[in-house]
Amino acid sequence: MSNEKYLTFALGKGRLANKTLELLEKIGITCEEIKDKNSRKLIFVNEELKVRFFLAKGPDVPTYVEYGAADIGVVGEDTILEENRNVYEVLDLGFGKCRMCVCGPKEAEELLKHHERIRVASKYPNIAKEYFYNQKYQTVDIIKLNGSVELGPLVELSDVIVDIVETGSTLKENGLMVLEEICPLSARMIVNPVSMQMQSERIKKLIWQLREQLEADI
Ligand code: PRP
Repeated sequence: MSNEKYLTFALGKGRLANKTLELLEKIGITCEEIKDKNSRKLIFVNEELKVRFFLAKGPDVPTYVEYGAADIGVVGEDTILEENRNVYEVLDLGFGKCRMCVCGPKEAEELLKHHERIRVASKYPNIAKEYFYNQKYQTVDIIKLNGSVELGPLVELSDVIVDIVETGSTLKENGLMVLEEICPLSARMIVNPVSMQMQSERIKKLIWQLREQLEADI
């Protein structure tokens, strides 16, 4: 049965998806359909290899994988930590490297040092909560935002933000800085636990091939 079944990949839209497709292509898993940028299709198939791909918003990728709508997902570790879904994290893909940080204006350093009750804006309320409550034992008010989080301190919505920092240029251009580092991040491959059992051979082979390729690319 497993030979006939499609292996379905959910990829986080954007750069991560492109990087993932490049990597998969190197191990012979290709999908011509997905390269057509004008296409409005949502699902892309390689009939010969029995693989399917779809692109989803990053935070939805672990959801598709947990429910088995996709066997495999590729998404940033930030999303995996935030969503806390029942999925297996099987591979660090090494790209999409960045850091989860507490950022803000220099003045906020003192507020952090003295464990003041501050306002924290973030797209990642769960990560922010875990960090402040369980690691720093600091009571804070967390405000969920959906993007352009750097605005928080600029318009006095919050004292600091918890966000990903890649090059640091967004912070720099807005007069903000990294105040504390929470953890390093990179793109990860996740697998649905049932698929891992049902398509064990196929998925293990894929992980092994990808690992070999990643080592060869270093
Ligand atoms: C992310 C993140 C920062 C920025 C960091 O935002 O939330 O704002 O990138 O990158 P940098 O350190 O290289 O400047 P994204 O571009 O995903 O948009 P968003 O703010 O609307 O979520």
